[in-house]
Amino acid sequence: MKEQVLPPPGPPTIDCSYIEAARGRVAEMRAWKPETLDPPSVPELEAMLGQPITRCDSIGENWRNRVYRIGLENGATALAKQVIMGTGEMLQYQHDQLLGLAKLNISGLRVPKPLGLMREKRVLIMEFARGETIQALVWNRRRERELMQACELAGKILGQIEIARTEKIGAMPVKELARDLAIARWSLTKRQQTLLSQAFARLAGVNVRVGEVYYDYKPANLIFADDQISLIDPPDIFRRGVLLWDFACFRSSMRRHLWRLSLRWPDQRRRALIHQSLAGFERSYLSKVGQPYLEPALFATALQLLELQRTAVLMTMQQGKVELAQLGRPIALGKRLGSSLANRLTLPLLEVEKHWLFRQLARIRF
Ligand SMILES: Nc1ncnc2c1ncn2[C@@H]1O[C@H](COP(=O)(O)OP(=O)(O)O)[C@@H](O)[C@H]1O
Ligand SMILES: [Mg+2]
Repeated sequence: MKEQVLPPPGPPTIDCSYIEAARGRVAEMRAWKPETLDPPSVPELEAMLGQPITRCDSIGENWRNRVYRIGLENGATALAKQVIMGTGEMLQYQHDQLLGLAKLNISGLRVPKPLGLMREKRVLIMEFARGETIQALVWNRRRERELMQACELAGKILGQIEIARTEKIGAMPVKELARDLAIARWSLTKRQQTLLSQAFARLAGVNVRVGEVYYDYKPANLIFADDQISLIDPPDIFRRGVLLWDFACFRSSMRRHLWRLSLRWPDQRRRALIHQSLAGFERSYLSKVGQPYLEPALFATALQLLELQRTAVLMTMQQGKVELAQLGRPIALGKRLGSSLANRLTLPLLEVEKHWLFRQLARIRF
């Protein structure tokens, strides 16, 4: 008798379908019951850390987690992240990712060392990373030089992570991407549909690096200090995809900050500085990944498509949050989902971004 082929053990893998995965997350949020998960207590944290703690301050809570900053008797600072919406496997995955990323030994990259895992309460304790996030640097007018330095370093680090995580150099997964974009809850004009089909046709058969993406390589998750970057918020599930996704993620997030900042301060010099920082990020990234497998026009097309996919992911999450708030679901209590006004404003902004990305796609010259 033929042996039965079983799926590999371990958590499931998400292959390129990030919009579908985001819809799954929204469905989970909808089914969410008022939490029964108590915050970690001081004796529990002390037992885990093996020493007394001098203080424990809550520094944030959202629909995914609660975050605490912990002062230790030996003078060190730790961070505890309690996963509210997520499984024990997801927590373990984050823990293992911290170890795995540190093993890559990338110069300039610091990865917080895990200090403990409390399974019952789903708490991960790790080193506290000091410094300012690249997002904070974008908004800080007195730290211009640091912003440039940080973005350049972020590109260099990403390029090296990408090389280390390349599973194969294979054809751009156009079918999977097209299938995922087709379920986005947005309406496209005829022209936009044509642009999408043309982009997919151009990219079919084109080679890209494929492997495990970091997924959330964005300015808010990169903490800069002393010529080093601490990478926080590790993946909680294995997502295989086009590694260029992480580049697209950083760029699209930076651009969103640039737009917000321009609305607040119409300052040309500052806009130019952020553009230069992004250019530095791209240059140093390319210097590490070497000659990309894509010629410039195809590189630009692939990036634009991945950015569109990310915009669709964000729209899916945002629509989900607005609906949950309207339904008065428990998860929407307090500020866990962010302010409701900000949530409602975000959707039209994402819509503007979608149109902008399509216009960029139309401009690429072959
Ligand atoms: N190791 C760390 N050192 C310092 N601050 C951290 C660390 N990990 C997380 N944080 C802080 O907690 C916030 C939320 O944690 P994060 O892991 O990014 O989860 P999420 O963005 O999914 O809520 C971060 O934006 C950062 O301010
Ligand atoms: Mg984060």
